[in-house]
Amino acid sequence: MEKLKSAIAPSNREAIANALYQCVSETAVTTMLAQNYHWNVTGMAFGPLHKLFQEIYEDHFAAQDELAERMRALGSFVDGNLTSMVNQSKVTECESQISAVDMIKNMVNAQETLGSTNAGASDIAASHGDKLTEDLCIERGQIHEKFAWMLRSHIE
Ligand SMILES: [Fe+2]
Repeated sequence: MEKLKSAIAPSNREAIANALYQCVSETAVTTMLAQNYHWNVTGMAFGPLHKLFQEIYEDHFAAQDELAERMRALGSFVDGNLTSMVNQSKVTECESQISAVDMIKNMVNAQETLGSTNAGASDIAASHGDKLTEDLCIERGQIHEKFAWMLRSHIE
C-alpha cells in the first residue's frame, strides 16, 4: 500500500475501507432501485413519486462516487462490478412492477438500512481516528434518514 501522510495505520485503513465498501455497495444497489421505481411507478401519486425517486437516485449516484473515492484516498481499490456490489449489499433488488405503496415501503427499508450502515461505518472510522470518513458517513446517514422520513410520510 502506498505511503500516506495520514496518521491512520495501514491495517486500520483497510478496516475503514471495508466499511466504506459496504456503504458504496448499498448506495449503488439503492441508486438502481430508485431509478427502477422512477421508471415504473404508476397511480395518482405518479408525479411527486417519479420526481422523488429521481432526487434519490441523483443523490445516491453522486454519493457512491464520494464514498468510493474516499476508499481510494485511503489506498484501497474499489470493486465496482455490479454483481460484487449486489452480493455485498444488505439492500436487495426487487421486482419492477409493484404498487406505489410497496415501492415506498421497499425504499424506506433501503434508506433505513443505508442510515444504519453509514452510522456503523462512521463508528468504525471514529474508532480508528479517521475523522474525515467519520464525517462523510455521518452526513450520508443523515441524508438517508431524511429520505426515509419523506417517503414514510406518504403512507403513514
Ligand atoms: Fe427520467
